[in-house]
Amino acid sequence: MTGFSYRDGALCADNLPVAEIAATVGTPFYCYSATALRRAYTDFAGAFDGLDAEICYAVKANSNQAVIALFAGLGAGADVVSEGELRRALAAGVPAEKIVYSGVGKSRGEMASALDLECGQFNIESEPELAALANVAAGMGKTARAVFRVNPDVDADTHHKISTGRAGDKFGIEFDRIANVYARANALNGINACGLAVHIGSQLTRLDPFREAFQKIAGLVRELRAEGHVLDRLDLGGGLGIVYRDEVPPVPTDYADIVRDVFGDMDVALMLEPGRRLVGEAGILVTEIVYMKESGGRSFAVVDAAMNDLIRPTLYEAWHDIDPVAEPDGDARSPVDIVGPVCETGDIFAVQRDMPPLQSGYLLAIRSAGAYGAVMSSTYNSRLLIPEVMVNGDHSAVIRPRQDYDTLIGLDTVPDWIGND
Ligand code: LLP
Repeated sequence: MTGFSYRDGALCADNLPVAEIAATVGTPFYCYSATALRRAYTDFAGAFDGLDAEICYAVKANSNQAVIALFAGLGAGADVVSEGELRRALAAGVPAEKIVYSGVGKSRGEMASALDLECGQFNIESEPELAALANVAAGMGKTARAVFRVNPDVDADTHHKISTGRAGDKFGIEFDRIANVYARANALNGINACGLAVHIGSQLTRLDPFREAFQKIAGLVRELRAEGHVLDRLDLGGGLGIVYRDEVPPVPTDYADIVRDVFGDMDVALMLEPGRRLVGEAGILVTEIVYMKESGGRSFAVVDAAMNDLIRPTLYEAWHDIDPVAEPDGDARSPVDIVGPVCETGDIFAVQRDMPPLQSGYLLAIRSAGAYGAVMSSTYNSRLLIPEVMVNGDHSAVIRPRQDYDTLIGLDTVPDWIGND
């Protein structure tokens, strides 16, 4: 149940026909179902009942403040990777102590701001980063709560661009170095070393890579504790996959059972950082067909959304199901390339996709677009950032308006010495 289903032939978001929203806000736009967001959160969080586990929503997946606020209202913390995300999370009502600051390249300026804003935890990814944080924190007379991200050298068996836990990936500290780094951290002013973190990749559709990584972390915890180190926090990252096509991703209870098995008796506070799983299936991108055209023996549907609005298909060759907003009548299907108007051959949403008969003016819903959709959009080709709409039962709200041309073009400044001398 995604929050999007046909009723009387019309695709609805919760109880509202998507075509009606399109008539109000225009196309293209992102549409999220608050019902689906809530359900995804409670399914995930509920699976960890009985464990000392905090859900820190990975706001990079969808950082609209309405989305963050919805999860914060259900008790979520946040996982952030930049000062901007930190400020968004705070603005959306996430308490600072429930915010985890991840990321491989936190600058000193970002560290200082985060310390100033009382950020709850820093996930450290290298020795130079540790030294920088110690220096910044001590200089401010503060102590940063730090955990160390381990690179466990586990293959997450996902797209190579979103696999993060193999030796040689840029993320984390090498497994064999962690004990040294931990000892060093304990000797530093400004650092309170209190645990480990791991995140092996995104869109995982099998559980065994999680188990393998978690077991390695558990072994490391035992080893470090035996050496006298204090570890009372473990951040287990995100990564649980969703349905884009015909995947059968693990259910949260099975995922949580692994966590329970591996860490249940370890007496640690656990953090989970789900992103995609909480928002991915709860969003669609709605676009209108501008033209149908035939060329080189192929049919093309040229739509008004483009790779700047949703880059996943071209960046990761990602499949997103695409359905007409008006439910198709018969079973006739024929192959169509669904493409955007941007001047790049890669501006493609689907290649030779079996689609029902299409016409210009038809609305299409690109599914599972709630994660890494709007957040990865750009204004390439000087296209406006598109609106985001959240539907809650019978109501909808624009949670980000369409950008306007004055804002877009007005950002540039032409120095008066250009063309004037
Ligand atoms: N924690 C850390 C440290 C991460 O790097 C990520 C995602 C997450 C949590 C959340 O992972 P999730 O639960 O969403 O899988 N743009 C790509 C995905 C990039 C993921 C980056 N890190 C895509 O569209 O597939």
